Amino acid sequence: MHLQILFMLLLPTLILSINQESLYLHTIKLGFDDPNGVFSNWNLHDNSSPCNWYGVKCDSLTRSVTSIDLSNTNIAGPFPASLLCRLKYIKYVSFYNNSINSTLPVEELCACKSLVHLDLAQNLLVGSLPSSLAELHELKYLDLTGNNFTGEIPASFGAFRRLEVLGLVENLLTGTIPPEIGNISSLKQLNLSYNPFSPGRIPPEIGNLTNLEVLWLTDCGLIGEVPGTLRGLNKLVNLDLSLNNLYGPIPSWLTELTSVEQIELYNNSFSGEFPVNGWSNMTSLRRVDVSMNRVTGSIPNGLCELPLESLNLYENQLYGELPVAIANSPNLYELKLFGNSLNGTLPEDLGKFSPLVWIDVSNNEFSGEIPVNLCGNGVLEEVLMIDNSFSGGIPGSFSQCRSLLRVRLAHNKFSGDVPVEFWGLPRLSLLELTDNSFSGGIAKTIAGASNLSALILSKNEFSGNIPEEIGFLVSLVDFVGNDNKFSGSLPVSIVNLEQLGRMDFHNNELSGKFPSGVHSLKKLNELNLANNDLSGEIPREIGSLSVLNYLDLSGNKFSGEIPVALQNLKLNQLNLSNNGLSGGIPPSYAKGMYKNSFLGNPGLCGDIGGLCDGKDEGKTAGYVWLLRLLFVPAVLVFVVGVVSFYWKYRNYKKAKRLDRSKWTLTSFHKLDFNEFEVLRALDEDNLIGSGSSGKVYKVVLSNGEAAAVKKLSRNSKKVDESCDIEKGKYQDDGFEAEVETLGKIRHKNIVRLWCCCTTRGCKLLVYEYMPNGSLGDLLHSSKSGLLDWPKRFKIATDAAEGLSYLHHDCAPPIVHRDFKSNNILLDGEFGARVADFGVAKVIDVDDKGTMSMSVIAGSCGYIAPEYAYTLQVNEKSDIYSFGVVVLELVTGKLPVGPEYGEKDLVKWVCATLDQKGINHVIDPKLDSCFKEDISKVLQIGLLCTSPLPINRPSMRKVVKMLQEVGGGDQLKTANTDGKLTPYYHEDASDQGNVA
Ligand SMILES: *[C@@H]1O[C@H](CO)[C@@H](O)[C@H](O)[C@H]1NC(C)=O
Ligand SMILES: *[C@@H]1O[C@H](CO)[C@@H](O)[C@H](O)[C@H]1NC(C)=O
Repeated sequence: MHLQILFMLLLPTLILSINQESLYLHTIKLGFDDPNGVFSNWNLHDNSSPCNWYGVKCDSLTRSVTSIDLSNTNIAGPFPASLLCRLKYIKYVSFYNNSINSTLPVEELCACKSLVHLDLAQNLLVGSLPSSLAELHELKYLDLTGNNFTGEIPASFGAFRRLEVLGLVENLLTGTIPPEIGNISSLKQLNLSYNPFSPGRIPPEIGNLTNLEVLWLTDCGLIGEVPGTLRGLNKLVNLDLSLNNLYGPIPSWLTELTSVEQIELYNNSFSGEFPVNGWSNMTSLRRVDVSMNRVTGSIPNGLCELPLESLNLYENQLYGELPVAIANSPNLYELKLFGNSLNGTLPEDLGKFSPLVWIDVSNNEFSGEIPVNLCGNGVLEEVLMIDNSFSGGIPGSFSQCRSLLRVRLAHNKFSGDVPVEFWGLPRLSLLELTDNSFSGGIAKTIAGASNLSALILSKNEFSGNIPEEIGFLVSLVDFVGNDNKFSGSLPVSIVNLEQLGRMDFHNNELSGKFPSGVHSLKKLNELNLANNDLSGEIPREIGSLSVLNYLDLSGNKFSGEIPVALQNLKLNQLNLSNNGLSGGIPPSYAKGMYKNSFLGNPGLCGDIGGLCDGKDEGKTAGYVWLLRLLFVPAVLVFVVGVVSFYWKYRNYKKAKRLDRSKWTLTSFHKLDFNEFEVLRALDEDNLIGSGSSGKVYKVVLSNGEAAAVKKLSRNSKKVDESCDIEKGKYQDDGFEAEVETLGKIRHKNIVRLWCCCTTRGCKLLVYEYMPNGSLGDLLHSSKSGLLDWPKRFKIATDAAEGLSYLHHDCAPPIVHRDFKSNNILLDGEFGARVADFGVAKVIDVDDKGTMSMSVIAGSCGYIAPEYAYTLQVNEKSDIYSFGVVVLELVTGKLPVGPEYGEKDLVKWVCATLDQKGINHVIDPKLDSCFKEDISKVLQIGLLCTSPLPINRPSMRKVVKMLQEVGGGDQLKTANTDGKLTPYYHEDASDQGNVA
């Protein structure tokens, strides 16, 4: 009876409280965009308890809400702190991976006194980290990874009492890691990776976190040595300090951390000896990556005796042998040791007991044979042994290794026949055997290698026919076998290779005629059959290979006329010399540029000098001798004349210089013109461009050379745009000193500044003239077709080298400040040079000679996003601008434009890649046969335009990456996944961090 009364009294309050929580939750629902309808059962009307609502959990006794898990639900809107924290018993909140897009409301959140678990990772939160967050004393788990939090980590975070997990990875946090973090003695995981922190040391106080299991500080701007206090972290399981600038030796006490399973120290500046002792205590260790440091010494035996899964020590200075013990590891699937000085043989049993998938020992001094059981577990995919001294043959056991995808054995001392069945491995996509002594023929079994896209056999002793079965390799893009002894005729079936982009069999003994039907090789870009014994006519069909760019048939026995249809091609390289061709030269090739293309064809007539001047060889030879007799003395006289003229000229110049008091022409190179000559030519007829910093004129000087003259316009009222010769002298405001620095720069990819002239009320910069104008003008004009991919790639590389020089090789370093396609100029061969660097700074010197950096921060579409909040321009902003130029080259699009709406090119590329794929990003004018390379370069462009400055690679790194794309043996199609896989160090980038 009493009980009943009690219930009747209590019931309303219980219902009331439930209703109230439903109301709060329902209001939360209303604050969100809910495209997936996850809130559809959050309804008030049927009086259901919220405890059944999606993602909601209640206490089983009190029925009050304790947990809300709306992770991965695609909801969008502000974080509903004030409502959430009215749920008195709420302990667990997860909005992981949604679009929560507000700041973290400080005071409201602090009302959540009972909160234990707060997961807001992977949202769109902004603003600073509330310093009062540590007042949530119950909090054990705080994950704010993957948001846009800015500012520093508050020192007050040291006051958390129970926090076990702190995740702040991938935000925009700055400052350094506060030492107070060392006070959170409960902490088990400290994850701060990928934030643009300022350079700073690992606080020694971290060593107080004796409960720490995970210390993840990748890419945190860390410098200095690893503090010795960390040796106290004896519960540590995962230690990741990669991608920082830590230096000094790898701490020898590392081997005291006996619980560690994973050590990641790659891409730092560690040096000194690899720790030798104590590894046998580390029985939990499974993965070690110390790659890309400067560590010396040998690989410790104790390390190799552990049951490792992955050992990455590439790009260090390790020497000595690979301990045999590694072969006994029952779990080893990854072994990457490339780029060291390791020697000796690989352990005989390597692969026998381990499920090896990837092995890369390239660029070492290994010798001996490939271990017979390397594929012993049948899962081997990649074998890279480039550039060692391996010998012997490909083991017969490889014939059964059907898992193989990539085999690269170039530049070794391998010999013998390639096993017959090995040729036909069904998944193999890349087989590269360049520069060995392999012999024998390509077996007919190659018909089975249906995934082969690159078959590179150059510089061996292969012989015999190229089998007809090659026609089955419908994925083949690169087919290269130059410098071998292949003989017989070209297989008729090659016309089936519709993907073929490059065929290079120069220096062989091939004979017979061209097969008919070559017009089907629609993607053929490069055909080199020079120095064989081929005969018959050059098929007219070659003229229909619209992307053919390189054609070399020299040194054969081709006869008959040159097909006029060759005129349809846009060839960069044409060589038909030393054949038996006759008749006329197609008119469009009768140009000086091709004068060497037709030599040594006695029957050939054309307008090119030297050809067709006499059928009588003996007589011609006589002429040649006579000519030489006359020519040699003539050259001598000429040289002597030039030298003496130069001496006189120099003396004249010296004399003149003494008397130039009224001029202020500052020259940085030997000049033979004066300012008046330049000034006179500055009329509007000669105007070739104008930009924010002034007008540019082309001036042809009396010596015949052309110069580009930039007339600087300034904010200063004193500048007289007319450059009146009568005006007063320009006051010295630091301009000259600054310009002098620029004038001293000499680099092949930087436009040379010949002189500057400040005499007559105006400032002129005289540059070398670049005949093909600016990249921007060309790329975005109707003439963009002139820029095929090889040219664009070259331009990117040239520009990168120029910019890298400014950043890394000038003292003090020069920040360009206005890098853009209009500031990349092209010479006669479309080589690129960087122009206008530093000028932004020069013209920004105000009258008092002080710099104001704020005015020019770059051009629209090229300005790095961080400028919006830092208002600073540094190297990283140049790198962003460079990235934009790369995207321009890849897409052919302008950096900004109405078509992008609110976005710019960078955002457009990212969005289009996501939504439609790479084919919608690449400029349709570019030949699709370059897609592999283009996509690699695109990746570099995207990396350079990373929103976080710290993620952008240095220009030096960019140059290296670009070289690796075009690099080595031009393995253009090395793999097909479109990932960035540079030539040798391909695996370095597979870490997902090419920085
Ligand atoms: C946050 O997202 C909501 C829902 O998509 C949107 O309406 C609102 O404008 C966004 N707020 C901000 C600051 O971006
Ligand atoms: C987050 O920061 C990145 C890089 O600065 C920026 O591109 C992005 O738009 C920001 N997102 C939000 C929601 O602020």
